[in-house]
Amino acid sequence: MGQGPAGQRDTGAQSVLRIGLLGFGTIGSGVYRLIERERDEIIAATGVELRVVKVLEKDLQVERPGLPRELLTDDFSSIVGDPEIDVVVEVIGGTGAAFDFVKTALESGKNVVTANKQLLAHRGATLFQLARDLHRQIRFEAAVGGAIPIIRVMRESMIAAGIHTVYGIVNGTTNYILTAMAQGRGDYAEALTEAQKLGYAEPDPTEDVSGGDAAAKMAILASIAFKSRVTMADVSYEGIETLTLDDVRYAGEFGFVVKLIGAARLIGGRVNVRVHPALVPEDHPLASIQGSTNAVFLEGDVIDEIMLTGPGAGGRQTASAIVSDIVSIAGTKTTGFLQDCSCYKSLDSIPSEEVPSAFFLRVNVADRPGVLAQIAGAFADEGVSIESMIQKGHADQAELVIVTHPTREDGFFRAIDAIAGLPVCKGRPVTLRVLS
Ligand SMILES: NC(=O)c1ccc[n+]([C@@H]2O[C@H](COP(=O)([O-])OP(=O)(O)OC[C@H]3O[C@@H](n4cnc5c(N)ncnc54)[C@H](OP(=O)(O)O)[C@@H]3O)[C@@H](O)[C@H]2O)c1
Repeated sequence: MGQGPAGQRDTGAQSVLRIGLLGFGTIGSGVYRLIERERDEIIAATGVELRVVKVLEKDLQVERPGLPRELLTDDFSSIVGDPEIDVVVEVIGGTGAAFDFVKTALESGKNVVTANKQLLAHRGATLFQLARDLHRQIRFEAAVGGAIPIIRVMRESMIAAGIHTVYGIVNGTTNYILTAMAQGRGDYAEALTEAQKLGYAEPDPTEDVSGGDAAAKMAILASIAFKSRVTMADVSYEGIETLTLDDVRYAGEFGFVVKLIGAARLIGGRVNVRVHPALVPEDHPLASIQGSTNAVFLEGDVIDEIMLTGPGAGGRQTASAIVSDIVSIAGTKTTGFLQDCSCYKSLDSIPSEEVPSAFFLRVNVADRPGVLAQIAGAFADEGVSIESMIQKGHADQAELVIVTHPTREDGFFRAIDAIAGLPVCKGRPVTLRVLS
């Protein structure tokens, strides 16, 4: 971190932190604008001037409103080779070039701030180890929960909280779609189109609607909560693409709201992390989280339960988390345990089949005597007990909707295989977990 050079305007700052920004898209331009707008405030509060001195982009011909042309470069080596640059902010996304850039930046002595959950969930182990070896920092508050300061809260405020469960809504796009479906604004396809029109979903929404985005975030949160590395490969996940309006309506009749839930649990010294649609009781606080908002519950021996909620993404909101990380680096220049992701344990995973869940299921059946007994028998064979059941329609249109008590997943799915094979059932039952 250098002193302000002679000849530059006197900002009153005691020092200047020079930043190389990789990417000037939604988040990169938001970071640049926020640093410009808040420069004087940050100097007054910290004595440090944040100064973006280079911006990497692939195409130098594209107009970048608000960005002085002389800052733009398409040459990464001009950033890592610049000894004056202290911090590299990676906001290009992806796990290929971003990995190479972050690795080279660390090797060149830079500290790194990133918003890239996929990079950290897939390849974080290598990067965090490198940062530790080289006494450099990787900060990643913006990778989970947008403007919600969840990494810092877990890393610092909850260090002695004995966190054993982290769960909640960590993807705004799917929550927007599910909220629209629950409010009767359309089926899945219509709600997705609405979300795309309003900018809540990408033109290619796969990463969000498949549960992949939420899975990467849960891998990061679980790693911090349990201090043991959880990667994408350790997370089982399902998305919302196959949810129908009927599922959402029937859930409502049982007093539930359908949400995409990420859950990380530490049980008996082993870890389970997963993402799936789940039925949330209407009186649970997560049921009222609407639109693109995120909300995460932390449960620990010492803290009982804490909920953090706020905007889960967006240019300004995510930029604010990045700027706070940059300021933190300015205040903590050596590497300590608070400046990486703290995975000093190596806990085993629990296969999801072993973790109990209550289930909702919906199945088309022939409306004739003995159907209920056959289905109940298939459940009884696997020790699954039924909490409630309703029948909809009759004759060819008959549909059974059932909610079970919590049960081991392997037994439940064996029962579903058996039920799907019954001649009285038409097609495989639709199943959803119930948050319990
Ligand atoms: N958007 C959000 O609300 C949000 C929230 C939290 C975290 N994030 C994370 O923040 C990161 C950036 O997201 P974003 O929404 O800002 O993406 P974006 O709008 O697509 O911006 C990325 C920018 O980086 C440029 N770029 C890509 N690869 C490059 C390379 N190899 N060299 C130089 N420039 C390159 C892109 O240029 P081209 O367009 O020419 O490819 C684009 O201008 C991602 O990791 C994302 O997951 C985003």
